[in-house]
Amino acid sequence: MTSFDEWLRDAVLRAEETVCSYLPAEEGYQKTVLEAMNYSVKAGGKRLRPLFLKEVYRMFGGSGREEEPFMAAIEMIHTFSLIHDDLPCMDNDRFRRGLPTAWVAYGYDMAVLAGDGLAIYAFETAAKAFSMTSRPERVAKALGLLAEKSGIYGMIGGQTADVELTGKSLDGEQLDFIYRLKTGALLEAPMMIGAILAGASEEQVRTVERMASLVGYAFQIQDDILDLTSTQEVLGKPVLSDEKNHKTTYVSLYGMEKAKQDVEKLSAEAESLLETLPGGHERLGQLIEMLVTRQK
Ligand code: IPE
Ligand code: IPE
Ligand code: MG
Ligand code: MG
Ligand code: MG
Repeated sequence: MTSFDEWLRDAVLRAEETVCSYLPAEEGYQKTVLEAMNYSVKAGGKRLRPLFLKEVYRMFGGSGREEEPFMAAIEMIHTFSLIHDDLPCMDNDRFRRGLPTAWVAYGYDMAVLAGDGLAIYAFETAAKAFSMTSRPERVAKALGLLAEKSGIYGMIGGQTADVELTGKSLDGEQLDFIYRLKTGALLEAPMMIGAILAGASEEQVRTVERMASLVGYAFQIQDDILDLTSTQEVLGKPVLSDEKNHKTTYVSLYGMEKAKQDVEKLSAEAESLLETLPGGHERLGQLIEMLVTRQK
């Protein structure tokens, strides 16, 4: 069997190919916005969300191709969230995925539109799965879930509280709400969609949701840690962004030691939930473990 690192490199490349195959052609009078959308998606990134979607789909025995438009869709929504997150009115960051942010490269106006464009094109893309399946009810369910986890009850809801409470000192409950929504929701969505498309039971989908929520929480804490301990060269985005914006983070609230311990604890809890799901999830377990020690 190939090593995890080799498997990961190959899996990321394949996920990237799938995502890029669904990007729009850069033509017409709206060419600039299409270029800005593609620039931000193609800039790179870990492609974790499409990867998780595919792995959970395979774990539940999915063997079709209707998960592919959803892999592209979740990466488009994630990229939209990053483009808007970096805007001067939000985190005001100038660097992302190793390149100038969309608003620096294309202007504030085009960056807003590119984010909007990706958010909507994600659903246009995911809807292509209807013509690739004999189980349209699963695709419909997955589409509804994608909307819920991206919108006001998911990522956008979390970003709203994050932005509105910037500069204020938060308590644990508020921070919990923000992390579960701004980051957790966009990890829950791909894993749950993978499960739904493959025909997992209601109960299994709920277990996947809890597992992904733990992964998402750990992921955001690690993001806060790296914001303090890493470099722009390694991360591909600025460090000390949270301090600059006077954000309360898990680290500022609980300290670095507890933050590191809790990343491990949450990941271990996610892994024990994974153990209750069907077999063939070795790579998924390794992927979750990798996030604890990730350096970018
Ligand atoms: C960054 O997500 C935003 C957070 C939720 C912390 P990623 O760290 O997955 O960003 P990319 O996709 O690799 O650029
Ligand atoms: C953002 O959290 C999560 C999103 C929904 C984009 P951060 O603001 O900490 O993400 P980074 O550090 O800019 O990637
Ligand atoms: Mg932010
Ligand atoms: Mg940010
Ligand atoms: Mg951050």
